[in-house]
Amino acid sequence: MKSKKWTIDRIPDLTGKIIVVTGGNSGLGFESAKTFANKGAETIIACRTISKGKTAGEKITSINPKATVKVMELDLTDLNSVKNFVSVFKKDHKKLDVLLNNAGIMTTPYSLTKDGFENQFGTNHLGHFALTGLLMDIISGTPGSRIVNVSSMAHLGGKMDFGNLQFENGKGYTPMKSYGRSKLANLLFTYELQRYFEKNRINSISVAAHPGVASTNLAHHIEHKLLHKIIRPVADMVIKSPESGALPQIRAAADPDVKGGDCYGPGKIFQMIGQPVLVKSSEASYNIEDAKNLWSKSEELTGVFYKNQ
Ligand SMILES: NC(=O)c1ccc[n+]([C@@H]2O[C@H](COP(=O)([O-])OP(=O)(O)OC[C@H]3O[C@@H](n4cnc5c(N)ncnc54)[C@H](OP(=O)(O)O)[C@@H]3O)[C@@H](O)[C@H]2O)c1
Repeated sequence: MKSKKWTIDRIPDLTGKIIVVTGGNSGLGFESAKTFANKGAETIIACRTISKGKTAGEKITSINPKATVKVMELDLTDLNSVKNFVSVFKKDHKKLDVLLNNAGIMTTPYSLTKDGFENQFGTNHLGHFALTGLLMDIISGTPGSRIVNVSSMAHLGGKMDFGNLQFENGKGYTPMKSYGRSKLANLLFTYELQRYFEKNRINSISVAAHPGVASTNLAHHIEHKLLHKIIRPVADMVIKSPESGALPQIRAAADPDVKGGDCYGPGKIFQMIGQPVLVKSSEASYNIEDAKNLWSKSEELTGVFYKNQ
């Protein structure tokens, strides 16, 4: 009988699989990339700074010289970079087994991406929406492939407002409201993508995951703040290491028992800590009307239209 505890030992051999991890150079993305590569997958670290990706890749191969890790440039704040990533990827690869949409920024001050999108919404949601859509032909052509979107418990505070989706000109913007909205968008997108797969009879699944709280570089932009300096050492004692924080997304990406539309997170204390288990996200995240609105708005904004097949 399988033990209840889910560990990476449960992951089957991933030899022959191709896995892309956005933001695979740092934190949870790095831990995920390391695990997939150690299990035999050809693992692509998709990152905005190639030198950081190379350092991360070398860290993995220095421990496991047999690991196959590639580094490719991807800046989610720039649709041209997303398009370029996809065209380079398609030149070298005929399939994609797992796309782990992990990269993200948190609670940054109001600013715009290169394409004029609000930065957190643009990076965390729109960039991944465009990336997934542009890779859809290769994803749908890979039987059993899966997309994993990394959300956050901060989605609980997120609210969709289609009249002012991107806090236009900073109106109503707070770093936390925007982060919460972007992480709610990750979930709405995950569940709508699963409906898209089902409607179009595509043999792929769409899954969400969140880490609870893990000690990573995510809050680096507020490291200089006094409150952060006081809280961080205490927080580091109680919150999870990146290794254990990454387990829900690793499970979502690699556990053969995962189903489309599932969400994985830690099982204890308000989904903050504990084993990676199947969890429920907020009621708002399952709102079909919001999911459809977000989908069509995202197509319009990015110019990436998902084909019905
Ligand atoms: N840590 C937590 O407690 C926590 C809690 C809930 C959810 N999450 C989610 O977990 C995911 C991973 O975050 P993390 O905690 O591992 O933080 P992290 O260590 O800061 O990693 C974030 C990654 O995203 C990359 N990234 C940021 N902007 C990008 C862009 N424009 N294009 C491409 N890559 C970009 C970063 O690249 P650079 O290294 O170049 O900056 C980095 O590789 C995020 O989606 C976050 O929302 C984390």
